[in-house]
Amino acid sequence: MRTIISLTPSSVVASIAMVVNLSFLLLLLFVSTFVSSANAKATVSISPKTLNRSGDSVAIKWSGVESPSDLDWLGIYSPPNSPHDHFIGYKLLNASSTWRSGSGSISLPLTNIRSNYSFRIFRWTQSEIDPKHLDHDQNPLPGTKHLLAESEELSFGSGVGKPEQIHLAFEDKDNGMRVTFVAGDGEERFVRYGEGKERLGNSAPARGVRYEREHMCNAPANTTIGWRDPGWIFYAVMKNLNGGVRYYYQGWSEIHSFIARDVYAEETIAFMFGDMGCATPYTTFIRTQDESISTLKWILRDIEALGDKPALVSHIGDISYARGYSWVWDEFFAQIEPVASRVPYHVCIGNHEYDFPAQPWKPDWAAWTYGNDGGGECGVPYSMRFNMPGNSSEPTGTKAPPTRNLYYSYDVGSVHFVYISTETNFLKGGRQYEFVKRDLESVDRENTPFVVVQGHRPMYTTSNEVRDAMIRQKMVEHLEPLFVENDVTLALWGHVHRYERFCPMRNNTCGKLWRGSPVHLVIGMAGQDWQPIWEPRPNHHPGLPIFPQPEQSMYRTGEFGYTRLVANKEKLTVSFVGNHDGEVHDTVEMLVSGEVISGSKEDTVNTVAASATLVGKAESNVSWYVKGAGLMVMGVLLGFIIGFFTKGKKGSSSGTRWIPVKNEETWYWRSEST
Ligand SMILES: [Fe+2]
Repeated sequence: MRTIISLTPSSVVASIAMVVNLSFLLLLLFVSTFVSSANAKATVSISPKTLNRSGDSVAIKWSGVESPSDLDWLGIYSPPNSPHDHFIGYKLLNASSTWRSGSGSISLPLTNIRSNYSFRIFRWTQSEIDPKHLDHDQNPLPGTKHLLAESEELSFGSGVGKPEQIHLAFEDKDNGMRVTFVAGDGEERFVRYGEGKERLGNSAPARGVRYEREHMCNAPANTTIGWRDPGWIFYAVMKNLNGGVRYYYQGWSEIHSFIARDVYAEETIAFMFGDMGCATPYTTFIRTQDESISTLKWILRDIEALGDKPALVSHIGDISYARGYSWVWDEFFAQIEPVASRVPYHVCIGNHEYDFPAQPWKPDWAAWTYGNDGGGECGVPYSMRFNMPGNSSEPTGTKAPPTRNLYYSYDVGSVHFVYISTETNFLKGGRQYEFVKRDLESVDRENTPFVVVQGHRPMYTTSNEVRDAMIRQKMVEHLEPLFVENDVTLALWGHVHRYERFCPMRNNTCGKLWRGSPVHLVIGMAGQDWQPIWEPRPNHHPGLPIFPQPEQSMYRTGEFGYTRLVANKEKLTVSFVGNHDGEVHDTVEMLVSGEVISGSKEDTVNTVAASATLVGKAESNVSWYVKGAGLMVMGVLLGFIIGFFTKGKKGSSSGTRWIPVKNEETWYWRSEST
């Protein structure tokens, strides 16, 4: 019997396909074997193998990478046994100038996150770019299929668990200063302090607290990618301090110092900003804020210039921008330590610390305003890693501990500072409203003639921030009457990443009276770079290159920077310092009467000469900033020219419309808010 093999057209096609597939597989096997063997000798080494503390650098060297590709990359891992796709960050090898030779080196300053690091080199190919596996900036995250080399572990040696991330805040009672820090274990510690480096005779006990992954509410905070052990957070209170006196303190190797709060100080000095974030020496899952380096650099310059005068910092929400990637909090606190270990660092809560889908207060009108901007943190790292005065707290409605540091106030010199939360209930009848009302009504204007209120989302902005329109409306309806009735001097807001100064405001218009019309400033320009666009006037001519400002907006700019507040018993001055040159670019002065004596549009933008005079006048009582008049004129002139050029460039790039550098609306609607 013969076996008949019939070759139908479909079986021929199937056979050919099988042969092709087989050949393809063999080819793939050959290529991968070739790639692997070609890189069999790739090595990566580190030096040194032990770092002492955060900020120390490691040199990572590699060699033997065959056929180098500009997609080859270095993964940074901690703990060192993390899965390949659980890196904390990465650098492309082409960051090294010699990468084409197959060898190179990258130096990275690293933060002690209480466990060892390791480094891995991967090959990533064009065909493996996954358009669905993206970071927050919509850039593809690198692929981990082909490991070429892995380093030894890098450790912080005996310093791995030692206290770091030191930051200060005023304490309510006993003229105290609270110091907060992070360590690797919960064993009780002590902070020694005194009026001389050699006289640290007082001791403050520090107890550790911590939070757990199960306290996180959503991804990425509660996932294995976002979560890392946050360590133990310690609070200690240095008590009974003499106002205006420098104290030294130590609970670790370095001795730090600060000036104790003087409630009767002649002069009050504050550095204020929102939305700063932090910089990381690597790319990670979320956008980080390189501009924060400049902001802190200039503030540190100012603090050093102050000598023995006290100052404070206000960071009014959107603090680290960790958004569920827990090690970014460590990076943030390591970065601010040079400032925050010298002056109290006060905060209020922003959407990026808090917003989560199940948040307990989410009225109908805010359903799409309060979203998931906290990356699942639901306020927990913010509540635990800071410890502000007062005892405000709200339950989270989840396993998470209550949200703290929501609203509080304190006096320094001639200023009463109030911090509020725009993320939790601020409506009439709520606990926060009652606190603000009681607080503003009880201010002793003899002692503190100036009242400064701070919160994250603005009551006023001319940016096209449509998502928050209802919040602004509710703030005007519920909170502004308290500000008006109690003669609030100044209201500071963040969230919009620009500097903008308003006229004294009342009910959406420039107030007719000085008293009861607070000056509003938006100061969210300290680091984060995404911006909503300015709101155009309906009758704006499309051919005009410069975007028009509504009349209540006195000054606004896209420059990064921060504000300085200086107040004595007669006058309060706020200046905007631009990061590009560290100079003052806008100033407003207010008297105790509420009268605003400078800062009109004519003062600021019309002529260079007028601006120079304004800056000179504003700084006349700030001796530590006085510089040569010529330098100031040059600075203002430079700022003016840069501003003009920038506006012109933006205008001309669009032809007919002012278009921001990044297409922010796309980002805005696809992703999240400021
Ligand atoms: Fe924000």
